Amino acid sequence: MTTPKKLFIKTYGCQMNVYDSERMAESLGGQGYVETSNAEEADMILLNTCHIREKAAEKVYSELGRLKGFKTHNPELKIGVTGCVAQAEGAEIMRRQPAVDLVVGPQSYHRLPQMEARVRAGHTALDTDFPAEDKFEALKGRKGPARAPSAFLTVQEGCDKFCAFCVVPYTRGAEASRPVARVLEEARQLVERGVREITLLGQNVNAYHGAGLDGSDQSLAQLIWALNDIDGLERIRFTTSHPNDMSDDLIEAHGTCEKLMPYLHLPVQSGSDRILKRMNRSHTAESYLRVIERIRAARPDIVMSGDFIVGFPEETEADFQATLDLIEAVNYGYAYSFKYSTRPGTPAAERAQVAGDEADERLQRIQALITRQQQAIQNAMVGRDLRVLVEKIGRKPGQMVGKSEYLHAVHIENSDAAIGDIVRVKATEAKRNSLSAVKRS
Ligand code: SAH
Ligand code: SF4
Ligand code: F3S
Repeated sequence: MTTPKKLFIKTYGCQMNVYDSERMAESLGGQGYVETSNAEEADMILLNTCHIREKAAEKVYSELGRLKGFKTHNPELKIGVTGCVAQAEGAEIMRRQPAVDLVVGPQSYHRLPQMEARVRAGHTALDTDFPAEDKFEALKGRKGPARAPSAFLTVQEGCDKFCAFCVVPYTRGAEASRPVARVLEEARQLVERGVREITLLGQNVNAYHGAGLDGSDQSLAQLIWALNDIDGLERIRFTTSHPNDMSDDLIEAHGTCEKLMPYLHLPVQSGSDRILKRMNRSHTAESYLRVIERIRAARPDIVMSGDFIVGFPEETEADFQATLDLIEAVNYGYAYSFKYSTRPGTPAAERAQVAGDEADERLQRIQALITRQQQAIQNAMVGRDLRVLVEKIGRKPGQMVGKSEYLHAVHIENSDAAIGDIVRVKATEAKRNSLSAVKRS
């Protein structure tokens, strides 16, 4: 019997990369690889990269500089770069770091097995095509051993929106949706492996329109209703959504579909209409607030989440103040704020940039406001009944850790629950980043 080769994957960036890393590991499993968490013993190292901000991309090169040293004590080691930096920079990566054997973009992962064979034979392999064939069709099914109760499932990829700051339309290509039958099949296989909660992923997941079982065009809401019928699947979430694609049926599903969790990530980026226009967002602050009003009418307890960019080119103090006002108006349970990062090739890169120290100062102010809101919403859960999906064993004896329907981390004390159970609890205390709870009597 041959000893299996070892694969180490390091994942950067968004949840879609997390999903892709799992699929790549499964695909290379067919080539005799098993995963390791120790890069030093690996025969193949893949960095699954993110290009969204400059820092994210630069991290890859410093990591490659470190990893190439491993080749001296393991000449069999092959190093690959996958993900959005691979797509954006292609062969340039091998020029900048000759220790790299393989570069493959997100649309070509199904070609990994052939590429692996090529690098084993001593060649390099590069593939950053947007091939006509569907990578998901070519990747194997997802039967396998038991796994964690919460899983990602990519249903839509790519983006046609071209926000002026963003690289995603260039790294992930045009919007494409997977057929309903494929999504259902993969979801059933995940449920068979112990999954109770599925988060549907897409760069613009609510722009999903896939072929239905009868060939007709299906919306994300229709896909969610189809998933709702799978026995054993208890929770459905989706991310990331665009405000313009919050269709009536999706808003309604938040009020009527019991398995759809009361949490919605709906990035807006800015509260200034002038900046939103310059960002090419094609919505206003007002239209965004109206969408949220309708969602809250359907599901009053929904917890909202968002993304913000500060220091976008030409952003004035008044524009920034409008963003703070919008945050006050929404009251976010979660929000993520980023300092604008100039991305070569995007329209905003050519414009008058905001001074770095000014952007830093705005980032601090926005984060202080967001932290205050997040904390208040989490603290308001104390005394409430929650349902927690148990994901792991806690540090204290008898403690189990999981997530509430609102996505807060919850520590259940003195629990006899097992991983994968959904437990009714009462929240007793709010810590900085989690709640403590006891089983409801
Ligand atoms: N498709 C999603 C988000 C993709 S990127 C959407 O449309 O919302 C995730 C987040 O990164 C964005 O919401 C944005 O806030 C941030 N981001 C994207 N490009 C950026 C840039 N050039 N500089 C700083 N933040 C950026
Ligand atoms: Fe990027 Fe805008 Fe597309 Fe989101 S909608 S992925 S921010 S271009
Ligand atoms: Fe990054 Fe690509 Fe995701 S740029 S955020 S890994 S789509």
